[in-house]
Amino acid sequence: MDDLKKRVEEITALLEKYNYEYYVKDNPTVSDAEYDNLMDELIHIETNHPELKSPFSPTQRVGGQVLTSFEKVKHKRMMLSLADVFNEDEVRDFDRKVREALGVTSVDYMAEMKIDGLAMSLDYVNGQLNYAATRGDGNIGENVTSNVITVKSIPVRIKVNQPFEVRGEIFMPKKSLEKLNTERKLKNEPLLANARNAAAGSIRQLDSKIAASRGLEGYWYYFVNATDFGITKHSESLKFIESLGFKTNPERRICHGIEEVIAYINEYTKKRPTLTYDIDGIVIKVDDFKYYEKLGYTAKTPKWAIAYKFPPEEVVTKLRDIIYTVGRTGKITPNAVLDPVRVAGSVVGRATLHNEDFVLEKGLKIGDTIVIRKAGDIIPEVVRVLKERRTGNETPYRMIDKCPICGSALKKIDAMHYCVNPKCEARNIESLIHFASRDAMEIDGMGPAVVEEFFNLGFLRNIPDIYKLKNHEQAILDLEGWSHKSFNNLMAAIEKSKNNSLEKLLTGLGINEIGSKMARTLARRYPDLEMWKNLEVMELLSLADVGPVMADSIYKFFHDPEIVAMLDALKLEGVNFKYLGPQINLNSPFANKTIVLTGTLTKYGRKEATTLLENLGAKVTSAVSKSTDIVIAGVEAGSKLEKAQKLGIKVMSEDEFIALLNK
Ligand code: IVH
Repeated sequence: MDDLKKRVEEITALLEKYNYEYYVKDNPTVSDAEYDNLMDELIHIETNHPELKSPFSPTQRVGGQVLTSFEKVKHKRMMLSLADVFNEDEVRDFDRKVREALGVTSVDYMAEMKIDGLAMSLDYVNGQLNYAATRGDGNIGENVTSNVITVKSIPVRIKVNQPFEVRGEIFMPKKSLEKLNTERKLKNEPLLANARNAAAGSIRQLDSKIAASRGLEGYWYYFVNATDFGITKHSESLKFIESLGFKTNPERRICHGIEEVIAYINEYTKKRPTLTYDIDGIVIKVDDFKYYEKLGYTAKTPKWAIAYKFPPEEVVTKLRDIIYTVGRTGKITPNAVLDPVRVAGSVVGRATLHNEDFVLEKGLKIGDTIVIRKAGDIIPEVVRVLKERRTGNETPYRMIDKCPICGSALKKIDAMHYCVNPKCEARNIESLIHFASRDAMEIDGMGPAVVEEFFNLGFLRNIPDIYKLKNHEQAILDLEGWSHKSFNNLMAAIEKSKNNSLEKLLTGLGINEIGSKMARTLARRYPDLEMWKNLEVMELLSLADVGPVMADSIYKFFHDPEIVAMLDALKLEGVNFKYLGPQINLNSPFANKTIVLTGTLTKYGRKEATTLLENLGAKVTSAVSKSTDIVIAGVEAGSKLEKAQKLGIKVMSEDEFIALLNK
């Protein structure tokens, strides 16, 4: 047995060394086969002697552990963030403040890549990884060790026994992100908009096999205990952690004075596209630790460092075509069809053009060379045309005047064009998709692709048809991709939707102006759909949140004979028309309060917490203002929390919120 234990230790040490050579140094000294043989031997021993298996064994680094939730970790020292600056002047300002505070004429800075990923803390005790934790709110993060150890370049054992902590960034290299998005596209799953979301999403997976499959990487840029080790400069601390086996970013540079920093920024603004990972800026840190205390800290950020953020990345592509989509309300949206280009972390092939005026203002012609970027780093938008690149072969733009689907004449209302044909297929498909969607009737398994297919086959022409789909069992089973199981699941989801509370049905009906939030307010006020048929505009107008446009829209909807017939058909199918949600409890501390949620809520998701609060009679809004009564702050709460504190608004932790829920 002791021999086996020794052998496990021997193999572990070898595999760790090979991991280091391969993943950190990019310089393997053994063949894949040799590595695999050792791994197989270790798996074999661990299978027969589970007591010899450590959670940090090399065999565990391919993932396998499945958690139900992440444990909380209190950071030993607050995990700070950085203040942002956006241009050269602000970078120089930072330098001036630093020099003035220190009374020196020039300062040495370390300039580094600002990696677009997820901040991570690695804590080591007795030479062994103790935990890996996310930043959370800076004070309390989440223990994500099982996912983080799948990043093989991270050392799980270290030649230093003294406790210490290293911080850095877990990120998804461009190649991994592209691969992931290609796979997601094939599976019809929504694409990840950028590297940061991709990294954060992967690290939050409860199944570490998924995290392991995502091709994540890590760079380590901050040694928390540097001074305990007698280190006096940030640059030295990076060399030191490198010597312990941590992967540090090679692009860093010591800059003597701010002009060298600016040159570095300009250099990397150009080099950015050639890097194998996404960066969103440059981090500038005072190098000498002896200045840190004197420079000090704000509540969330050190004053000895700053993040220069790149302006949104702009890329050039070609406008190949303008195509139109027809929404549920008949709204026509022009969309740019682009030569696919990579921008801010993902490949973009479409961009919304909003409406005719937008296209005319930009002066777009089909065939134009254009500049695009992502607004808020997510939504692709057209910035401008490069008129100087025109060849004369561009086609002038003209807004369509007929619906691209049904051919009926479009009607212009304000800036938008609408297809007003209520029988338009595109509108009907969109209405059905909306009816089944999560916010509405929540029919799992009836997403856009299924609706479209059933519509085209004639199984589904209007909403009541959903409840008659069971009559098409054989025809559906004959379709590609359907089995008895998936058919039965769909039927069960459809049956289940019959018991939804009124607000879900109201949302699903897609009455103009009525979103899911308003539907809930109204369902509480008029808890039976039958009542709605007799509501007068005046009565509706007496409600606080209802204006004339909405009142009119509701009135017209329920007085349209075709709609009345459709509702009768739904009732006949057994669809519930009554509000089943909780009645407002006026004694609840949340009743009639305006509440803002911020940060990550860990027990209930944002959506669930909103529903719970609304059911208690609260109004949940997104922005903090003087009329906010309570701010509920989860982990990683940011500017909204700050604003609440500034305005003197009551702030509640997630725990306090949970405790008061049943009061
Ligand atoms: S230093 C007190 N260095 O950017 C030191 N941060 O906007 C705090 N980041 O929270 C961090 N690359 O998640 C530092 N080379 C780098 C970085 C970096 C990316 C992230 C990190 C931080 C955020 C601040």
